[in-house]
Amino acid sequence: MADIAGLVGNTPLIRVRLFEKEFPKVEVYAKAEWFNPGGSVKDRAALSMIEDGERRGALTTDKTIIDSTSGNTGIAYALIGAAKGYRVKLVMPGNVSAERKALVTAYGAEIVYSDAGEGSDGAIRLVRELVEGDPDVYFYPDQYSNPANPRAHYEGTAVEILQQSSGRLTHFVAGLGTTGTFVGTSRRLKEHDPSIRTIAVQPEDAFHGLEGLKHLPTAIVPRIWTAELADEVWGCPTEPAYDLAREVARREGLLVGHSSGAALWAVRRLAGTIEHGVVVTVFPDSGDRYLSTGLYGRKTS
Ligand SMILES: Cc1ncc(COP(=O)(O)O)c(C=O)c1O
Repeated sequence: MADIAGLVGNTPLIRVRLFEKEFPKVEVYAKAEWFNPGGSVKDRAALSMIEDGERRGALTTDKTIIDSTSGNTGIAYALIGAAKGYRVKLVMPGNVSAERKALVTAYGAEIVYSDAGEGSDGAIRLVRELVEGDPDVYFYPDQYSNPANPRAHYEGTAVEILQQSSGRLTHFVAGLGTTGTFVGTSRRLKEHDPSIRTIAVQPEDAFHGLEGLKHLPTAIVPRIWTAELADEVWGCPTEPAYDLAREVARREGLLVGHSSGAALWAVRRLAGTIEHGVVVTVFPDSGDRYLSTGLYGRKTS
């Protein structure tokens, strides 16, 4: 019998057939990260950072876990905090989706809102102020700087991908938020087989609708970001990513979020440049997190 934290990881690798007609010699697979108990890839990083804090003695039961998050990491902290008996305080931009606010509140976490116009960087600045003002009260994992974030993917996501694809993959594609997923997974994959090509996906510009992803040239660059692990970094436009998220829901029954649409956009671009290959990507969360945004109400063109 597992406790809820023991169910993080070991997500399915699903075949995606969306581009099969266009590119018959390119196989595409995606890690279905919404199968994690908190519904996203961020369960892996949050659990890894919390357990690392426990091991180091930095996180004790008298501390409140605090961090800035655009949503999914907050849900992960709130769930794991509740399961392990820690208080959780989350700083998030005021404009994150209603589902996310409701979810963290349901797990008993407290929300502090930062200026919506300042995006995730505004939340980072505010959490730093709060921690500096009261350093003894908080355990601040700082997901943008904490090596235990990419380590979750180095020890988990990448190992699972190698097993599930029987080591056949030739390309890895993932979006950049904290960059933990991309950095940790790519490092392990390249150690295993240096010929595996890695493509990182960020929003095309600073103002975008791809919740969870960061435009690195105009953002506070995460300390864990390791540029040399990326063979390519591509900028994805918002609308084509939304179109692909809608399309994969309607044609394959995979209800995914915006950032999975961005991953698909990069997979299609990649498929157009290679003759054959086995491409693995990550679908970070489910589309049910975004129903209130109207993403799925519009028609696929
Ligand atoms: C929906 C979504 N997609 C992608 C990412 C990016 O993952 P990472 O932070 O590991 O770069 C996140 C991270 O918050 C996310 O919430």
